Amino acid sequence: MGDRVRIYEVGPRDGLQNEASAIPLDTKLEFIERLVAAGLREIEATSFVSPKAIPQLGDADELVTRLPAASWVRYPVLVPNERGMARAEAAGAKALAVFTAATDAFTQHNIGMTVAESLTAFEPVLQRAGELGWWRRGYVSTAFGDPYTGAVDPHQAISVAIRLLELGVDEVCFGDTIGVGVPVQVTALTAAATKAGIELDQIAYHFHDTRGTALANVVAGLGAGVRTFDSSTGGIGGCPYAPGAAGNLATEDLVYLLDESGVEHDVDLELVLDAARFITAAVGRRLASKVGQAGGWDASTGKPVGRG
Ligand code: HMG
Ligand code: MG
Repeated sequence: MGDRVRIYEVGPRDGLQNEASAIPLDTKLEFIERLVAAGLREIEATSFVSPKAIPQLGDADELVTRLPAASWVRYPVLVPNERGMARAEAAGAKALAVFTAATDAFTQHNIGMTVAESLTAFEPVLQRAGELGWWRRGYVSTAFGDPYTGAVDPHQAISVAIRLLELGVDEVCFGDTIGVGVPVQVTALTAAATKAGIELDQIAYHFHDTRGTALANVVAGLGAGVRTFDSSTGGIGGCPYAPGAAGNLATEDLVYLLDESGVEHDVDLELVLDAARFITAAVGRRLASKVGQAGGWDASTGKPVGRG
């Protein structure tokens, strides 16, 4: 596998699903436009879930019809069931993510199903998406810990991932939903997953930065050979059904790390910082990410860059 890293942006979905205030559709679209301008090629745009569960994304149908036309950008949408699939298809989506977890407790709170029930519900969804030629991802949340039951055995997460791959997903994404994981766990989970037959290029990681370990976890993932990482511009995000979840790893922090490490990717740091300032101002938050505060760094002058 190559050394180029895929940065999978989840700000418009994971970021905005957790905001208390209603965000206008035009603001969401402008955020996505700025992400496209920054070079992001995979932008998880929204969710076709129950608007009662996630009112913040209740405009998904219209949002997808108005996404910036950019043939090089993939815009996956979250789909929990056949109802969501029908809506996503009608809106013109072309890529999806189904989402379950390593643990029944979180899955019950999040989507009202056990893990086994969720896999049954995804079967027709993934089959239909396969017929349509869509790219398909499967999330395994709580891969490092569950907010209701505690520690999680990596093999629990891996067996769910294997079932998702059998159902046809192109990639599985292990989520540290509440941000409790540390690098040795990432190394161990990756090794156990590949030993169980999952290819490195079928694995993505999704770290919430609740306890400041997300970037260290990325370094462990890189060291283990994983090349796809989720992040959220401005570090916004969290799941309303995961008590204690804070924002995702910030895209600007990830981009800085990769740039300074000489790892190739597609994203421009100053333009991500521009998008981060835009969205945090729009939701009335302080830009709290480390690189958001300090800016990048110009090695030729020693001065910070991109602080606006
Ligand atoms: P339910 O209440 O168990 O199911 O919800 P239901 O089938 O009884 O439906 C209840 C109502 O919702 C009905 O409407 C349905 O028609 C409607 P009513 O008759 O009451 O008027 N409904 C829908 N409406 C629109 N679109 C749909 C849909 N489905 C049902 N697709 C359900 C089950 C799965 C729908 C619900 O629990 C739900 O939507 N949950 C979504 C939760 C969610 O989005 N959580 C955040 C994403 S996961 C996450 O953040 C973690 C991740 O980032 C990775 C990580 O961090 O680890 C991905
Ligand atoms: Mg998440």
